[in-house]
Amino acid sequence: MKKNVAVLISGSGSNLQALMDAARTPAYPARIALVISNRPEAYGLTRAKQVGVQSLVINHKDYATREAFDAALHAALLQANIDIVCLAGFMRLLTPGFVEHWEGRMLNIHPSLLPAFKGAHAIRDALKAGTTETGCSVHLVTAELDSGPILLQEKVPVKLGDSEETLAERIHKAEHRIYPKALKMLIEKFFRS
Ligand code: GRF
Repeated sequence: MKKNVAVLISGSGSNLQALMDAARTPAYPARIALVISNRPEAYGLTRAKQVGVQSLVINHKDYATREAFDAALHAALLQANIDIVCLAGFMRLLTPGFVEHWEGRMLNIHPSLLPAFKGAHAIRDALKAGTTETGCSVHLVTAELDSGPILLQEKVPVKLGDSEETLAERIHKAEHRIYPKALKMLIEKFFRS
């Protein structure tokens, strides 16, 4: 039985696209059952609609506290019978209670070779540091930001003259390769049914 996956986004959703593309293969062990965006204008919502995947806006601005916002997220995930949550460019910090509930069943993709360059500016920080190699990581989400167990990483070279945009583009290509693989790995390792 395929696992029901929700993808949480805030923006472009190119990783969402990679996951939806992978999930179209009959042998892939997950179906993307729900997309949730905290931003109504996120392009990822259009991507979901284009392929008939259910999507939902839960706008953080409609909630007075992080707890209330996370409670709304949680309720939507339960209602859709979600087994696994994939964060894909979801730009909200999650509360410890929410993280604890989904621990072991929630993945994130981060544009660096963790533990290097944690936080919201990983690509800029890698350029600033003058490193010749960076990459991307898929990890399980734990209470501490960008610090959970790593499932998969791919190295990406930093080239002479790279800007944030050119480096981001190279990293994104690697992200689109590893995220579907990591989700498959998680399901095969921990969710055998
Ligand atoms: C990716 O670089 C991901 O690593 C980071 O946010 C970006 C999301 O891009 N967490 P997209 O919305 O999937 O195109």
